[in-house]
Amino acid sequence: MNARYKNPDNDPRGPWKSSGLDVKTYSATYDYPITTPSGRIVNPPGSSCWRLSKQRFEEYVKDNRIWFGTNGNSVHAIKRFLSEVQQGSVSKTIWFREEVGDNQEAKKETLSFNSDDVFTTPKPERLIQRILTLATNSGDWVLDSFLGSGTTAAVAHKMGRRWIGIELGEHCYTHCLPRLKSVVDGTDQGGISKIIHTPDPSQAGNEPTPNPSQEGNKKTPSSEGIKGWVGGGGFKYYYLAPSLLKKDKNDNWIIDERYNANMLAAAMAKNEGFKYCPDENIYWKQGKSTEKDYIFTTTSFITVEYLDKIREEMKPDESLLICCKSFQEACENRYANITIKKIPKMLLGRCEFGKEDYSLNIVNMPEPTPDPSQEGNLNKNPSRKGNKMGISQEGNEHTPYPLSEGEHKSPLLGGDLGVGKSGRAKKPNKDNSTGKNTKQRKLFE
Ligand SMILES: C[S@@+](CC[C@H](N)C(=O)[O-])C[C@H]1O[C@@H](n2cnc3c(N)ncnc32)[C@H](O)[C@@H]1O
Repeated sequence: MNARYKNPDNDPRGPWKSSGLDVKTYSATYDYPITTPSGRIVNPPGSSCWRLSKQRFEEYVKDNRIWFGTNGNSVHAIKRFLSEVQQGSVSKTIWFREEVGDNQEAKKETLSFNSDDVFTTPKPERLIQRILTLATNSGDWVLDSFLGSGTTAAVAHKMGRRWIGIELGEHCYTHCLPRLKSVVDGTDQGGISKIIHTPDPSQAGNEPTPNPSQEGNKKTPSSEGIKGWVGGGGFKYYYLAPSLLKKDKNDNWIIDERYNANMLAAAMAKNEGFKYCPDENIYWKQGKSTEKDYIFTTTSFITVEYLDKIREEMKPDESLLICCKSFQEACENRYANITIKKIPKMLLGRCEFGKEDYSLNIVNMPEPTPDPSQEGNLNKNPSRKGNKMGISQEGNEHTPYPLSEGEHKSPLLGGDLGVGKSGRAKKPNKDNSTGKNTKQRKLFE
């Protein structure tokens, strides 16, 4: 197959083969005229359009990745370099079990994490490896919103990809967490562990993942680093809290009784974009958005006297947001630096019912080193709505392969269930009478 790769223009990147620039699936933004080096103007043939956007095409031209023929006048083609094709293979239509495994292999792989309870629909690691090889580069994000037995996250991790996994079922605790912990600590020697290379942190310039903007310098974990998977990296684990609000029997919105005072304060701080950090001495300083801007959540009825007392304790340059269930009318607008709001109402104001695209803002995501090519992907501005969930690999704030500690202690987030240096993924609490997972309930008692 390599014979199909030639190097007619003596490209320093080595032999390449051409691949067509036009595609049949039409998109107006990919339909633009191209001027060849010889000056000929060419449009996509028939009802097709180009494979690359205009901007991408120009980047490719600059990088000498477009072939215009020896006289600069021929049909356009993209140069596909053999050196950039992983293990010299490109995607084939039929994937044989000898190459990518089968269900039996997948079952064996998951048995090593939970021999009592075989996951019914696991995928073999080799299959996911093939898919991730074709679809991603080292350092890319891989999202599996139906994590199942955790194969995708496990393979993504071993391949030096960052990942996010979301799972609804009990097997999040019985399969995903033990499996991913075992990947991180290196005891997982099944699946693709023997056939890949653990990326070498010293070669990665102390970055956990190569910066996608440095494409070209890209190191593929399959060709460098330590032979076999030896462990490293880490992940954070979150679970989704119940909705803060619910309807009572009269169809009124009320605060879910599973939220105690601390949890309510933490949730309100998060919703309003404050950092929850209760002051040991001053009860109304539960969180802050800046050095002088505080939040106080209470279920008490706020009277004018109550408000005046707080005001007396405040410094002139401090401001405060009070979230309460109800307050005396005279409290509203009493002080310019104190805003007072009713909880169900203020939260409901943030809900957008009936929208098709909710564009949820995820707060406190691990932020990678700023990379202009990725701008817009991460919400750097702490949002005042949204919740975290799922299992996610560490972002760039940590060095690559030492394990990272679970960080979040908020009662709403359960972050100490993350895998850390000394941490272990805690087993779910089982309610013996029902056999159901009671961990979430316990957190809300
Ligand atoms: C077929 S399995 C996924 C297999 C997995 N991606 C793999 O590679 O092995 C589908 C999983 O999605 C989970 N699931 C279904 N609905 C979900 C939801 N709304 N949120 C999160 N997980 C969900 C199920 O519990 C099940 O474990």
